[in-house]
Amino acid sequence: MNKITINKINYLDTFPVRSAVLRQGKPIETCFFLGDDAVGTTHFGLYNENNIIGVASVFTSNNENFDIKNQFQLRGMAILEEYQSTGFGKLLIEKIFNFIESTQVELLWFNARESAVPFYEKLGCTKKGASFEIPEIGTHFLMYKCFDV
Ligand SMILES: CC(C)(COP(=O)(O)OP(=O)(O)OC[C@H]1O[C@@H](n2cnc3c(N)ncnc32)[C@H](O)[C@@H]1OP(=O)(O)O)[C@@H](O)C(=O)NCCC(=O)NCCS
Repeated sequence: MNKITINKINYLDTFPVRSAVLRQGKPIETCFFLGDDAVGTTHFGLYNENNIIGVASVFTSNNENFDIKNQFQLRGMAILEEYQSTGFGKLLIEKIFNFIESTQVELLWFNARESAVPFYEKLGCTKKGASFEIPEIGTHFLMYKCFDV
């Protein structure tokens, strides 16, 4: 069995997976998210041996739909297509939940692609409000998960 690890990584290391999964056919610059290089942003990489096969990032960012002081935003959650549906996404997001539990942050929110909503619901996240469109990407739902502090 291959060795699977999840490490904190630099934002530049997220680009190969973001590009292949979330920004297919688009210029590499579109893989940069505003705030990627901010001090309060943490990037995670899931490795199969030495190969990065999954990424996700946690930004310090508040959403006005939630009346909670300390919030994180999840962005750029992606598993390479050939590794999807084999439990790696679950491993990665559980690592992120553990990370959040080690902080004083009470709420994680994110804009979920419609196709990924059932994945997040299985992991205890909830939809809020109606769907909305993100240009060139598609239909999304605002989702969130609360944490005890
Ligand atoms: C969404 C994504 C991160 C999920 O990761 P994954 O490794 O494929 O998912 P897992 O194999 O860990 O699935 C965990 C559970 O969710 C379920 N699940 C995963 N994707 C699902 C989907 N689209 N619809 C319904 N259930 C889904 C799995 O069946 C599994 O259920 P189980 O625990 O009962 O067996 C991954 O498929 C992906 O990168 N998709 C393309 C990019 C994307 O949509 N990113 C999210 C942007 S908001």
